[in-house]
Amino acid sequence: MRSMFTKNLAAEREATQLALPLGCEAPLALTGIRSIEVDFPVIEISHLAKIESYRKNIYRPAYYIHKWWARRTGATFRAILLGTLLPGNCSPMDFFYRANSFEDAIILDPFMGGGTTIGEALRLGTKVIGVDINPVSWFLVKKIVEPVSSDALEAAFRHLETTAGQDILRLYETTCPECGGPAQAVYTYWVSLVPCRACGEMVPLRKSMILARHMSKPHTGLVTCPECGYPYVSSTLNQSQRCPVCDATFDAHKGFSKRATYVCPACGARDQITRVLRDQSAPPLHAMVAIHFHCARCGKGYKKPDAQDLQTYKHIEEQFEEQQGYLLYPRASIPPGYNTNQMLNYNYRFWFQMFNKRQLLGLSMLLEAILSIEDPNVMEFMLLLFSGLLEFNNMFCSPKGLGTGAVRPTFAHHAFIPAKECLEANLWGVNRSSGGFSTLYRERLRRGKAYAREPVERRLVGGRAVKVPIVGECIESALASSFEDLVSLPDKRVLLLNRSSADLAEIPSQSVDAIITDPPYLGNVMYAELSDFFYVWLRLALRERYPQFSRPSAGRADEAIRNIEQGKDTEFYRATLMAVFRECHRVLKDEGLLVFTFHHGTAEAWDALAQALDEAGFSIRRIWPVHAEMDVGVPILGKQSVTLDAILVCRKQEKAMVGLIEDAVTLAEQVEQETQPLIEMIEKMTVLSKADRRSLSQAVAAMLYTQKRTRLLPSCLAGS
Ligand SMILES: C[S@@+](CC[C@H](N)C(=O)[O-])C[C@H]1O[C@@H](n2cnc3c(N)ncnc32)[C@H](O)[C@@H]1O
Ligand SMILES: [Zn+2]
Ligand SMILES: [Zn+2]
Ligand SMILES: [Zn+2]
Repeated sequence: MRSMFTKNLAAEREATQLALPLGCEAPLALTGIRSIEVDFPVIEISHLAKIESYRKNIYRPAYYIHKWWARRTGATFRAILLGTLLPGNCSPMDFFYRANSFEDAIILDPFMGGGTTIGEALRLGTKVIGVDINPVSWFLVKKIVEPVSSDALEAAFRHLETTAGQDILRLYETTCPECGGPAQAVYTYWVSLVPCRACGEMVPLRKSMILARHMSKPHTGLVTCPECGYPYVSSTLNQSQRCPVCDATFDAHKGFSKRATYVCPACGARDQITRVLRDQSAPPLHAMVAIHFHCARCGKGYKKPDAQDLQTYKHIEEQFEEQQGYLLYPRASIPPGYNTNQMLNYNYRFWFQMFNKRQLLGLSMLLEAILSIEDPNVMEFMLLLFSGLLEFNNMFCSPKGLGTGAVRPTFAHHAFIPAKECLEANLWGVNRSSGGFSTLYRERLRRGKAYAREPVERRLVGGRAVKVPIVGECIESALASSFEDLVSLPDKRVLLLNRSSADLAEIPSQSVDAIITDPPYLGNVMYAELSDFFYVWLRLALRERYPQFSRPSAGRADEAIRNIEQGKDTEFYRATLMAVFRECHRVLKDEGLLVFTFHHGTAEAWDALAQALDEAGFSIRRIWPVHAEMDVGVPILGKQSVTLDAILVCRKQEKAMVGLIEDAVTLAEQVEQETQPLIEMIEKMTVLSKADRRSLSQAVAAMLYTQKRTRLLPSCLAGS
């Protein structure tokens, strides 16, 4: 038997004088029944997952240096890992707030995405292999784990601040309307324009005269006067407005566009926006409508763009046109797809068209400066931050509201939704403004790497989340370059592969102790389509460094999703998932567990999952329900979405169980009987929606199918 605890745990235990439950102190090996097969702290973890999902970037900042879609919470994965590593007589909660070191275990995540499993496994001291087909995922997880000195980062940031930072700030110069002195445009509000098909006048696609509502005060918002354009904050949105400048009276809720139609303010004609777009070849134009400025003397305020502001912007456009040939920005076209078609319908043909010319000019200046950083590791960190910055600095960003983070980033939804009302942030950032490089440096990169060096946990005390330092844990590790490296070199604890997990040839058979993952959920998120937004920029810097960045796009071919636009049906999803699970079966030790989270509102997804597991030789042994974040990509069932994840605990199949269920009625009875305890478990915390109950029933039906207790698929359940 091999010891799994290091001196760290012993020292921490001694320091805290906390005794572990009897039987848990003995040296452990990853054989026999595991904790997660016996029990799981469903309620404790659901509470922690819930608070984490509200403030993910604050509670687990290491994973939020860069965007990834549909991340699960770290608390859930820490508990899943502990439940898998600990023997049946131990509970994850007894180890949750301790430093652990399961240093003999090798964990694999074949769908690593944003790297939650990778980071959480490294904290527990295991060795870990992370695989993802997407080059952006690979790059961001690599930077989550790679060590960097905070001094070196800080020095590089200071250098950027005095070089590109100064040039970028110059692009946002304006004058303070109070004192006439110099000021900075912190946020610039724009609206989309389309020409009226009847009279040719430009119609601003404004839903109302409210540019941004206050997040906590329902009758407060930023309004512009329809007569004179003056912007002001009104606290009486429920009443008729009187403009403080020109005295015009108006209804702030009345605009010139409603969903897909516009009403021309000049001639009163009403028409479909898409009809206008069909007549055109270019994306909608934008008009600047308000500036949120900052003056060193007078503070913050709003102003109507004056003649000088419009002139300044015109000069920037001219500067862009002159320098265009030399500027560093992607020229790649937007390929058709499920998510990208929406942009193509708005006549966006190239990725760069998502940005205005000031943004392209500033981004190009910044990227040039980042590429000149000598230390390649530091350069890559700044590049990762730059990539994250893109999401906050394009014309698909909209105002989030007053009294909050200001910029709603592009991927607030798992889609590309052209904004009718756009918010342009100050690219460098002023006074910690939302979406600026300097702000993201502090809030994302610096905070994220500090967490990667010294992670903490949260304990709920009287409804408050209290920080608990976990002395001795660390996410950072040097990368192994091969499986041999990973097992033989003590300081190389992580191997990251950028390839389809349907082929894991470099990992020997029976070499992995456990597989912990979160696969794509049928067609919920089109990772490759969305990630191209970042990829086309990242490849400008990385194409000569890493072969996977030499391709024109992230690559979609073997991605395990359903996407009809890409010719991938549910059968494709099932077959690809099966191929990955089959590789998992090969590399996993016979005693090892495969544990993953899943939820879906349709039986189709559960059928595909059940078949993929079964064909690959796995059966689901246990199911645990846990709170999952509200997922914007989840299909809606009667307006209710799934808010629960099912944790599916699988083992390699053994012999078939007896007592075959042959008809749908008996199946429904059996499923009901086995789902009820799961519902009771989680209903101690939350009331389940119909969609939640259905997703859990489907999980149970999938379990019966993979245990070969029935040949009926989850879709045979009545009401599916
Ligand atoms: C749900 S995400 C994982 C999220 C991750 N667990 C987290 O918490 O951030 C699923 C991932 O599977 C990846 N993927 C899809 N098909 C794949 C394949 N054939 N091989 C490897 N990765 C794949 C996608 O790129 C995506 O990052
Ligand atoms: Zn001033
Ligand atoms: Zn008109
Ligand atoms: Zn007015």
